[in-house]
Amino acid sequence: MAAASGGSGAGSCFVLGASGATGRALLRELQARRLFARVTVIGRRRLSLAEESGTAVEQVVVDFERLSEHAAAFRGHDVGFCCLGTTRSKAGTDGFVRVDRDYVAQAAELAWAGGCKHFVLQSSQGANEHSRFLYLRVKGEVEKLVRAVGFDRCTILRPAVLLCTRQEFRPMEWITQRVLGAVAWLFPTAYSVPVETVARAMVASVLQPGGGKVEVLENKAIHQLGKAQPQLGT
Ligand SMILES: NC(=O)c1ccc[n+]([C@@H]2O[C@H](COP(=O)([O-])OP(=O)(O)OC[C@H]3O[C@@H](n4cnc5c(N)ncnc54)[C@H](OP(=O)(O)O)[C@@H]3O)[C@@H](O)[C@H]2O)c1
Repeated sequence: MAAASGGSGAGSCFVLGASGATGRALLRELQARRLFARVTVIGRRRLSLAEESGTAVEQVVVDFERLSEHAAAFRGHDVGFCCLGTTRSKAGTDGFVRVDRDYVAQAAELAWAGGCKHFVLQSSQGANEHSRFLYLRVKGEVEKLVRAVGFDRCTILRPAVLLCTRQEFRPMEWITQRVLGAVAWLFPTAYSVPVETVARAMVASVLQPGGGKVEVLENKAIHQLGKAQPQLGT
């Protein structure tokens, strides 16, 4: 992707999960940096996006249960960013697998078929298709499926616990964030990462030369890549 490092966007990207904690930070970063001439948010509902200076954002509303009928939304993008995900408490076990694995894998296939060269996937620390834990297993499975699609480049980010302010209240996550927010003073890159840093790393991964067909960025690498970027729009 021949995106400029600021000011003169070229090409097109799409964002999945743009209404979420990381997705919103990513969208702000993309708008502020103006890397792409066209940014398309693909989601299940229309968002009321704040008028911000920067790249205009198009929105396409899709039915994720009939994603193949929305192939046009995935056509003609250079880069696809995916921050999609749910939780078992919100969607149940089947719903979690459906969103975090099936929707993501289907979207990746449509993107590839539509000409996308670089897919940037937000996965999780500990992702492992052989894990005993459903969450980590599903993350490992989706990584494998996305890798197999055949993008010229695939960047997989494995953040630790996300530090963010959520619109919804998730009690366990709230407690974990408070604890790890404090621990972060001692071990800043070990157990947590702010969503803004993840967003900057996602964008930076597009700008830096590819280190191979598939790149996996663990939490420390996300911190390094995310911090290397100027603090724009977050
Ligand atoms: N929380 C953590 O500490 C942590 C750590 C490591 C990795 N991760 C992973 O990082 C990713 C992003 O996390 P996040 O906390 O930024 O996400 P989030 O705030 O929970 O947002 C999730 C996004 O997915 C969309 N989504 C959820 N269910 C959907 C459905 N049934 N159909 C269509 N879209 C749906 C949401 O859309 P709506 O707004 O329409 O619901 C939203 O845009 C997830 O895959 C998560 O598992 C999280």
